[in-house]
Amino acid sequence: MPFSIVVGAQWGDEGKGRIVDLLASEAEIVARYSGGDNAGHTVSVGELTFKLHLLPSGIVHSHTTGLLGNGMVINPGVLLEEMERVQQTGVKISPDRLKISHAAHLITPGHIALDAAQESARGSQKIGTTKRGIGPAYTSKVTRSGLRTALLHSPDKLEIAVIEHINQVNDQLTSLDSEGSLNAEKIATDYCSYADILAPYITDVGLFAYKALVDGKSILAEGAQGTLLDLDHGTYPFVTSSTPTAPGALVGLGLGIGTAGRVIGVVKAFQTRVGEGPFPTELSGDMAERLRGTGENDWDEFGTTTGRPRRIGWLDAVLLRYAVRVNGISELAVTKLDILSGLKSLAICSRYRIGEQEYLDLPQGPADLSQFQAEYEPMSVWDDDLTSIRSWDQLPVQAREYITRIEDLTGLPVKIVSVGPERSQVIIR
Ligand code: IMP
Repeated sequence: MPFSIVVGAQWGDEGKGRIVDLLASEAEIVARYSGGDNAGHTVSVGELTFKLHLLPSGIVHSHTTGLLGNGMVINPGVLLEEMERVQQTGVKISPDRLKISHAAHLITPGHIALDAAQESARGSQKIGTTKRGIGPAYTSKVTRSGLRTALLHSPDKLEIAVIEHINQVNDQLTSLDSEGSLNAEKIATDYCSYADILAPYITDVGLFAYKALVDGKSILAEGAQGTLLDLDHGTYPFVTSSTPTAPGALVGLGLGIGTAGRVIGVVKAFQTRVGEGPFPTELSGDMAERLRGTGENDWDEFGTTTGRPRRIGWLDAVLLRYAVRVNGISELAVTKLDILSGLKSLAICSRYRIGEQEYLDLPQGPADLSQFQAEYEPMSVWDDDLTSIRSWDQLPVQAREYITRIEDLTGLPVKIVSVGPERSQVIIR
């Protein structure tokens, strides 16, 4: 795997963290390339459960080097807390092991306050953001007024830039009728203290990644969020503000087109979404509750970042085929197959319909799905517990049929199937 990319093929929360954890055993470098601490990746290793928001999941493997690419927006306070938490479990984090792009952008308390104020101004049209300041930080970036992490090398410039930025935010907050204004000097002092610790980590990540590939090392790029949350290709405007799709890994790490190889699309065996926006196969009632779980387990369907209950639905092959196309996915990994054991009914949406007209593909992307009616294929159910199964042949025939149907509907092989949250609970084909 010289340069492999793992992407979420749905609305995020597909269980990418554990697939990355599995593949990271073979990678020398693991990289995040988009988004920020809106992401939440849960990785279980033995007794330990890591909940990571900014660090690449593969960093828990001691042989890897982690990269945070230029496509990311980084809250330095959150990053330092996460580094501290991970170190307390015995995982070493040092400038040798973690490299942060000089061209990533900083999230500030100003961006977070704007995120909340803009969401409340949207009223019933709210997006349901994670309120981590993601959209406003990318807005600063594209309006060319953002704070790049390179500033952490120059505390004097950083101080001035943060004060100017917070003063501008205060004006914006006033125009949004938001209560309270932020203390620019205090925030600038905090950011200078973050710089003291983080400056040695800031480097040209693109150059580091390029040289690593030239030296024959392998890089695993770890997508956050999912295809349908992509700013261009998702269910706009109910999307995040970055490019989580596979091409975003090239731009977001500063690598050229020719470098990419394998693209692994991670698909949950059913479908979930947090936040607002269309969801054609959404379920309600007992079935949704059964698939969501109670929230007592780390793997139940509640947001890792916000704790919000996730919306639940049947697997949607129309949206999955779309994800295959826009990412250039070369193989699939299906997660959480074990959760489907013991259901009374099971279905896959294989096509959409408007009146007599059937659609296998989306005619105009996923932004407006309200006009379509999802058409389902009933699938056979099984009762067997899958959590201790480790080989394809031992799976109940109905579970194999379910996976094979996903392969038929997408034209791609399913090479990994996960049957539980632990590192070992996986079937590799
Ligand atoms: P933002 O990224 O916080 O601006 O949120 C925009 C939309 O993306 C909201 O619907 C969020 O719930 C959703 N979102 C952002 N990050 C994630 C994630 O990691 N998993 C699932 N949904 C996410």
